[in-house]
Amino acid sequence: MSYTINEENVERQQLLAEILNPVAIEILKKVGPLPGSRCLDLGCGQGNTTRMLAGALTPRECIGLDYDANLIAYASAQSNPPGLHFQQGSAMELPFDDASFDVVFTRYLLVHLPDPELAAREMKRVLKPGGRAVAYEPDFTHEFAEPESFGITQMTKIWRGMFPQPTIGRRLPGIFGALGMNVETGTFLGVETGLGPYRRIYRMTLEAMKEGILGRGIETEAEYNAHLAELRRLEEDPKPMVVKFPDFWVIATN
Ligand SMILES: C[S@@+](CC[C@H](N)C(=O)[O-])C[C@H]1O[C@@H](n2cnc3c(N)ncnc32)[C@H](O)[C@@H]1O
Repeated sequence: MSYTINEENVERQQLLAEILNPVAIEILKKVGPLPGSRCLDLGCGQGNTTRMLAGALTPRECIGLDYDANLIAYASAQSNPPGLHFQQGSAMELPFDDASFDVVFTRYLLVHLPDPELAAREMKRVLKPGGRAVAYEPDFTHEFAEPESFGITQMTKIWRGMFPQPTIGRRLPGIFGALGMNVETGTFLGVETGLGPYRRIYRMTLEAMKEGILGRGIETEAEYNAHLAELRRLEEDPKPMVVKFPDFWVIATN
């Protein structure tokens, strides 16, 4: 597996961090700081989440894991604090010993996986007794603009057609609860008034997924072009309020 690192992909990840990091940092405040601990970030991508995790929990060691070698090379080449490392590997088969981490974090990874229950079992396996799994995932129920824009409502159909686990958010409490873990749950519904990162990331993501959308027949070429034109229009129009799909999070204690 390899991901192309280009300006658009770097910017999209930065926009994701701009939108989601403030929420994730509030969740992590319920877990730490945990000086002296060992933490793991699954599906770390370009490393933004791993640096956020290390900043929030101040662990002795923090490892970012991703199965994509290009992303691991990119993340490793950034300015990283001491004790933070990146490693290639799969969340479905973690290359770590049982009971070797205090916290295992993951964000927007399980939505991509064929078997998220297996990844959750792996998270529990590598956690020490009393350790915490923190998972934060989307749930593609709906999204909308007010005044209405089909550019936004149509995105729900795109996510549902493109991602193997489009309702993973609502399933998190059940998945970790079934492992006998004690689960705390919450949600986040983001709202954008005026021009901001939501409009931009919607448009950039639609462009990045063009091949998959057409290849899977989720939209015809004409529908895709109209959809993209509407998102471009919205990117210049500060009036509509944009409400993105909900996210769910869990803190599951081992
Ligand atoms: C949407 S990105 C999320 C990045 C980061 N966690 C964040 O929230 O910004 C999903 C990441 O999961 C990685 N990924 C997908 N399947 C994986 C697997 N089986 N094991 C490890 N990483 C995986 C992808 O390479 C990608 O970097």
